Amino acid sequence: MAKPFSQQNLRLRPSSRELDVVLAAQQHFERTLVLAHGEPVGAVAALEHPRGEEKANYGEVFLRDNVPVMAYLLMMGRFGIVRHFLEVSLDLQSSTYQTRGVFPTSFVEEDGALVADYGQRSIGRITSVDASLWWPVLCWLYVKRSQDWEFATSQKVQRGIQLLLDLVLHPSFEGTPVLFVPDCAFMIDRPMDVWGAPLEVEVLLYGCLRSCCRLMELAQRDSMSRLLDQRLVLTQQWLHDLRRFLLKHYWVTSKTVQVLRRRPTEQYGEQQYQNEFNVQPQVIPPWLQDWLENRGGYLIGNMRTGRPDFRFYSLGNTLACLFGLITAPQQRALFRLVLHNRDHLMAQMPMRICHPPMEQEEWREKTGSDPKNWPWSYHNGGHWPSLLWYLAGAVLLHEQRHPTADALLMGQMRAMLEECYWSQLNQLPRQQWAEYFDGPTGTWMGQQSRTYQTWTIVGFLLTHHLLRVRQQDVRLLDIEPSHLG
Ligand code: GLC
Repeated sequence: MAKPFSQQNLRLRPSSRELDVVLAAQQHFERTLVLAHGEPVGAVAALEHPRGEEKANYGEVFLRDNVPVMAYLLMMGRFGIVRHFLEVSLDLQSSTYQTRGVFPTSFVEEDGALVADYGQRSIGRITSVDASLWWPVLCWLYVKRSQDWEFATSQKVQRGIQLLLDLVLHPSFEGTPVLFVPDCAFMIDRPMDVWGAPLEVEVLLYGCLRSCCRLMELAQRDSMSRLLDQRLVLTQQWLHDLRRFLLKHYWVTSKTVQVLRRRPTEQYGEQQYQNEFNVQPQVIPPWLQDWLENRGGYLIGNMRTGRPDFRFYSLGNTLACLFGLITAPQQRALFRLVLHNRDHLMAQMPMRICHPPMEQEEWREKTGSDPKNWPWSYHNGGHWPSLLWYLAGAVLLHEQRHPTADALLMGQMRAMLEECYWSQLNQLPRQQWAEYFDGPTGTWMGQQSRTYQTWTIVGFLLTHHLLRVRQQDVRLLDIEPSHLG
């Protein structure tokens, strides 16, 4: 168990408010934890609204909202809660024919019984794909940190993984290694034209498959199962194809855009083709020129025949660094892009979920006139403080993996993170740890924002922990097995 904050050796100015803010955040965090079967199981999405407004499902334990919660608990050495969360979620993995293998978006204990939502209760009745993909990642990070090999190799965990892989590794009409999903299938759970192969889902698929391989390898050590061997080979091949596909079709820099703009179109037949999605040069948006400048790069939001989505999605890109999907030089190109576009991406409240927002006619058509996803609001260009720690994790992990690479750039990234941390520290308590912020500068608390949102609170605590307390704990987020323990 880690020492409580007050006893840790911190680089704190004694007069600063930092200590008070962190202690208050820790207290709020403790209040978010709820029980299942009498034991702490994870956190609700938001603490009750202080003005007692309608709660919707923010009182439930969302799998995605608990990603930072579990990361934080692992850093604090509170393994019991993480294991219980994993077990309860696994028990709730669907076993009905049409959804077999799917993990719930959220669950809650009501009158002693667990009730799970697979999308049948949510607004728009959406199934979250990301919840299922996160489970093996969290499971592997837990096993790696706690060294609970017995849990990893248990029959129920191994069976859960196989059920999940059945959902992903099968022939499809598209014949590509990506997972096709409907609109709203991940953190962006309202219509935003993110159907098809959205970046966040594909990057999570990559992290998920890598974690499944690690967990299967552990079981393979003490079993002679030929089926397991075959599954492992197939999963590794899929991973390899998926990474190649994403790097080829999603990664853009100023150089690649110039190639894209000059490719032939309407190429028929099986001969050598350069434009397999038949993308017309006209779809490349003009804002990309300044956005990328000379040395920036990022993964675009989606690739669909004739219609790539060039929007920048913060979470998909930062996860691509954490999971090692993009190479080290590509990660640094991404960091340059973030620095160059800092006024957009960070502004007053780090960091923007997706850029640029859809406006006017496009907003009307693509969101179905959704007032919550109004331009510069919520998922449509809004600012989510909960996203900053992922970027902090990506930068610090990069530093640990490549300590001598581009000291100037990494120094600038560090300085930027530091300022972002201070801007959260100064604003979030006053703004009641709001869920999201609106407007081009992200200054205003989101119009329909919940307050005391768990991942805002715990995201701040994680950023604090990584920047101030134990930077080396960022290794915990590394899915590579080489740093066991
Ligand atoms: C909103 C968000 C979703 C989150 C949920 C609970 O629906 O769009 O990503 O999981 O709230 O916080």
